[in-house]
Formats: sequence, structure tokens, C-alpha cells
Amino acid sequence: AIRHSFVSRARKQSQRSYNYVQPQASYKVAILGAAGGIGQPLALLVKMSPLVSALNLYDVANVKGVATDLSHCNTPSQVSDFTGDEELANCLKDVNVVVIPAGVPRKPGMTRDDLFNINASIVKNLIGAVADNCPDAFIHIISNPVNSTVPIAAEVLKQKGVYDPKKLFGVTTLDVVRANTFVAQKKNLRLIDVDVPVVGGHAGITIMPLLSKTKPSVTFTDEEVQELTVRIQNAGTEVVEAKAGAGSATLSMAYAAARFVESSLRALDGDSDVYECSYVQSDVTELPFFASRIKLGRNGVEAVIKSDLEGLTEYEQKALEALKPELKASIEKGINFVHKQP
Ligand code: NAD
Ligand code: LMR
Repeated sequence: AIRHSFVSRARKQSQRSYNYVQPQASYKVAILGAAGGIGQPLALLVKMSPLVSALNLYDVANVKGVATDLSHCNTPSQVSDFTGDEELANCLKDVNVVVIPAGVPRKPGMTRDDLFNINASIVKNLIGAVADNCPDAFIHIISNPVNSTVPIAAEVLKQKGVYDPKKLFGVTTLDVVRANTFVAQKKNLRLIDVDVPVVGGHAGITIMPLLSKTKPSVTFTDEEVQELTVRIQNAGTEVVEAKAGAGSATLSMAYAAARFVESSLRALDGDSDVYECSYVQSDVTELPFFASRIKLGRNGVEAVIKSDLEGLTEYEQKALEALKPELKASIEKGINFVHKQP
């Protein structure tokens, strides 16, 4: 069974008290961009994990206050703050999981690709430091446009001679979280039971929910498929418009990212039943990167679940073909960015 570890673990924990959580394992997690809209609630959720012994927070501004505040929570992990280029190496030393939400968010009217000019350089520089200081870590990229920032990270890691495609992840968990929520609402299902794989990429039509593969098995009318697919694809924009210039999804994103961190830590800890969707290097299609359901293990991606792309409906098959040119262009843009740089 596919377990939503973060949800079930949080449930189990809430039956105890958060005041007294014994350390169960000792993994080190770094968050780069930790003082931001995503970074702060994500740091709080990771601070609640009994699997974490050290939580290293890095940002170019305001990180000391965030870390001091968080450090007063009596959960096991030791919180440390780092700022400026000269402290980045220490932040990353011996880290098992690095999460990167550093970068600018969208405002109404912008696409995720409009963030490329600023965020591409931020991700490139941060990944250079990751390559130098914790090349074995799982790397979770949240910074948009994910369809391009993950290929950027891969090229930087290759240039540094430390690229392990099994350990580089574009975080698309929020698409799954949204799909599960919207489907459960529409079909009156228990939220905890619903799992919808979302494949492709993380922008517009490249976000491809596989509603036909929903668990438990559900039937949808054509209208429901159309409505749900468009809602899932536009959910990021729904939040950007509601925030009206004050940024994009931060709280739901932090929830989703914390779930992906927890799943990664469970996999590192030897749990053999960890599945998540993520945008990874892939050969399930002709594109070099593609989001799929993956099995996570101690060494990262243990398997890509290719069977999810078998037996698609006609609607899904068309959507898959339609997304490929856009996703291909975003991947190439990322790769070219690294090779054009001095
Ligand atoms: P934010 O502006 O609130 O926070 C970003 C933080 O990054 C800031 O604290 C900033 O100081 C920091 N930062 C900037 N440059 C940095 C650098 N070089 N090193 C370290 N930190 C740096 O933005 P946010 O709302 O937290 O969003 C962050 C990114 O996440 C955006 O690019 C957004 O589009 C993306 N995002 C992705 C998803 C997803 O599903 N993958 C979802 C939501 C948002
Ligand atoms: C999201 O899906 O919420 C993020 O990618 C942020 C955005 O710009 O929509």
C-alpha cells in the first residue's frame, strides 16, 4: 500500500505530546532559503520530525531570528543558522537532505518561467556549494521553474563530477497533495484514502494528473476529468491570484515539502515501502526529465513506476503528447543556461 507517511506519522505523533519526542534517528537536514515564505513553515514542520538530529537553516537575510525562535521548540533537532557565502559550506557539511526553496515567487500575471532569469542563477550557485560540501545528499529542488531548475542542478553536478541522478529531485508533491484534496472533495471520499499520481512536470499543461489511476478506483465523467485536470494545473495560479501580489503558495507548499522530506528520511532509515511522485532524470518517455511515481530507498530513486503510463485514457494520452514540447523546451533552456555561463 502507498502510505502517506507525513500524514500518518503526524497523526500518530499528535496522539502523544509534542513536548516530549525522543530522538529515533539522527539525520541532518539543510534548508536553503529558510527565512522565506516556504522556508519558515517548512523549517517548523521539519523541526517536528523525530528523525532529524540537526536542522541547518541558510538564507541571505533574516535567518538568525527564524532559527532562534525555532530553537526554543523542545523537539530533538539542534537548529543552527547560517548566512552569507562564507557560511554556506558549514551549513552543508555532512547533511543528508538539502531542501532548496530559495528564489523569487510569482506575482499575478507571471508564468513560472518568468522567474527563470533570477532563480536560475540562485539555484546554480547553491548547487555548486552542495556539490562541494555534501555531494551524497538527497537534493530537493522547490525553486521555480522546477522544469528548468532541476536540469540546471544536474548540469552543475555533472560539471563538478558528482552527479547522482538517483538523488536529485524536483519537488512536485504539492501537485499530488492538491489532486488528492480536489478529488476527495469532488467525489466525497475520505481524504486519507485518496492517492492520485501526477506526472510530467510542474507548470501549466506539463502538470498531468492521472485521474484514471486514482486509488481507490473512482469513475469520473468527461466533464469531471476536464474540470479537475484544469483545477489541478491552475492551482498555483489560484493561490497567486488570491494572494494578489504577496507571493505564491507557501503553507501548502511547506506541508508538501515536509511530506517529501519525511518520506526521504524514512527511505534513508531503511523503510522499504516509500513511494512519492517527483520530477527526476527519467527514461519513461523520450524526455530526459519527467515526473513519475518513484520508489525511494537508501540510495535515492530505487525504481520509477513506468506502469503508471500504461493503459492511459485517450484524454490522458493526448495530454501526455501535448505537454512534451513545452517540457522539452524548459529542460533545454536549463541545460543551455549552465553551458552558456562562464
Ligand atoms: P520568498 O520570497 O518568500 O522566500 C524566498 C527566500 O529565498 C527568501 O527568504 C530569500 O531571502 C531567499 N533567497 C534568495 N536568494 C537566496 C540565495 N541565493 N540563497 C539563499 N536564500 C536565498 O519565496 P517563497 O514563497 O518561499 O518561494 C520560493 C520559491 O519556491 C519560488 O521560486 C516559488 O516559485 C517556488 N515554489 C515552488 C513550488 C513547487 O511546487 N515546487 C511551490 C511554491 C513555490
Ligand atoms: C505552485 O504550484 O504553487 C508553485 O509552483 C508556485 C507558483 O508559482 O504557482
